[in-house]
Amino acid sequence: MCGIVGYKGKKDACGILIEALKRLEYRGYDSAGIAVWHEGKVEVARKKGKVDELRKVIADGSFTGKMGLAHTRWATHGTPSEHNAHPHKAGDVVVVHNGIIENYIELKERLRKEGHKFLSDTDTEVIPHLIASYLKKGMDFVDAVRSALKELKGSYALGIIRETDKMLIAARKESPLIIGVGAGEYFIASDAPAIINRTKRFIFLEDDDIAIFADGTVRLIDLEGKTVKREIHQVQWSDAMAEKGGFKHFMLKEIFEQPRAISDTLIGRVKEERGEVAFEELKLPDLAKVKKIWMVACGTSYHACMIGKYLFESVLHIPVETDIASEFRYREPILKKDDMLVLVSQSGETADTIAAMKEGKKRGVYTLSICNVLGSTLARDADGVIFTHAGPEIGVASTKAFTTQISVLFLLMLHIGERLGKLNKQDISRYINEIKQIPHKVQSILDMSGQIEEMARRYMVHRDFLYLGRGINYPAVLEGALKLKEISYIHAEAYAAGEMKHGPIALIDENMPVVFVSPHDHTYKKTCSNVEEVISRRGRVLIFTDDPLHEMADRVETFFVLPQTIYALQPILSVVPLQLLAYYIANFLGTDVDQPRNLAKSVTVE
Ligand code: G6P
Repeated sequence: MCGIVGYKGKKDACGILIEALKRLEYRGYDSAGIAVWHEGKVEVARKKGKVDELRKVIADGSFTGKMGLAHTRWATHGTPSEHNAHPHKAGDVVVVHNGIIENYIELKERLRKEGHKFLSDTDTEVIPHLIASYLKKGMDFVDAVRSALKELKGSYALGIIRETDKMLIAARKESPLIIGVGAGEYFIASDAPAIINRTKRFIFLEDDDIAIFADGTVRLIDLEGKTVKREIHQVQWSDAMAEKGGFKHFMLKEIFEQPRAISDTLIGRVKEERGEVAFEELKLPDLAKVKKIWMVACGTSYHACMIGKYLFESVLHIPVETDIASEFRYREPILKKDDMLVLVSQSGETADTIAAMKEGKKRGVYTLSICNVLGSTLARDADGVIFTHAGPEIGVASTKAFTTQISVLFLLMLHIGERLGKLNKQDISRYINEIKQIPHKVQSILDMSGQIEEMARRYMVHRDFLYLGRGINYPAVLEGALKLKEISYIHAEAYAAGEMKHGPIALIDENMPVVFVSPHDHTYKKTCSNVEEVISRRGRVLIFTDDPLHEMADRVETFFVLPQTIYALQPILSVVPLQLLAYYIANFLGTDVDQPRNLAKSVTVE
């Protein structure tokens, strides 16, 4: 995710803004920019690459002034480049933005007809143009901003200034933005670490709040112009705590970011009323000819591929073959010319997955990557790319990348289903309606994290765990077991529940916690029998289910109820408590959760 900082006060803004950007560097970004106001003029500089590159551009001292904005960009629309970097300017309006504007294409078309010229590929650029168009109609700055915000669909945290005004305006909707209150000075920031060394007094803006900084004070209004009141909070955060947004570890922060990450991944792609899923600039091959889809990846991303297989096969009846990337190219896969190869990768830089893409290209098949990092190798070199909008993932153990990968695979399934005539508009609207409820359902699980923490306390003493699930939840338990072993170093194995009697059952005794994911779907009865088998061998059973009346509820030690959803979306919900369980166990054991021993975030060797 991008970083925003802003300053209005009595000191030199430039130094403060650059320092604040540097403090956000740990989050990852691909370009940076700054705008400083001075006596009716705004100087803007932008640079691809690091903040130090930007610092070189402004080293001549021309950026003096006591009000300004700065930004680090993590590209979502348009490649990482100088012309796509923020701030964006239209007329005399200068804007930095985090979030995604869903209706930017419609707005851009309308503004173009009014004579506006666009210089970037970003969704953001419509915002200053929209404000400028209202200013041209005679509105004052605040009203022009309010009117523009009312037209935006999607999410935003914004910092806005204009040359002919001494005011700084900030606004937020579904993207974090805080105000730092100093002595006779104000800061804005998307993240506390940017400014925690300057002040510990914060106002946390809420959705639809607009903050107006003028005449040495800040005034808050809503979109209708009515005054709103927000308290000033005094926080006691250290630098390290602030980086993690008050969470103890990045991994926990990222688990809790999942509702927003999934929403951001859906934004702009799902059109529920029209029964449509659209991917910007994605050119797929002639789908009627595609007889088989291959899904290839490593680690957690491979588990997403396995879920993709269940999705495509159960809903569209298109055969999908999944493969671990390091196996794929050494086993002479029988790729046919019209097959499609889908590569899934958070980083877009995993060496084995890149090698699999190259193999596919060599064999002449269409390659499609699903990545989280714009400008990464897989994003650049595959024939098509769809981005997950999870934002930077810093914890080595992947969490929000996984649930957004599943979300993208689900959307891709709907898109292909529609194009092949396998799903009609009503079907698609129904599916869209279901996935749109997922962020809220994930949130309701996160709200019960206390229960999972208690569970972790109870089971942390064990050295071996077994995870069992069936159908589309089989990959979810594989992922749950992977999370536990990655960060707690506890031995955890996962099996399709039906395989239990072919080996793992021999391990079961009173020292073996067995984690079941057992929703009330077509696999329910069979899994109940497996639970029975474990109980009779004195295994300690934990059940995660969407059925509060599960017939084994009273017979097992631990029982956790998940929200209900359709079969195709169950793994997104069932994996969240498993991520939390792994996290809390590791935290109790005191391991290095964010950087577990021997593991790397991005494995760039084969
Ligand atoms: C490493 C990471 C895992 C990740 C895997 C694949 O092993 O530690 O969390 O799932 O690589 O990475 P990718 O970036 O391709 O998804």
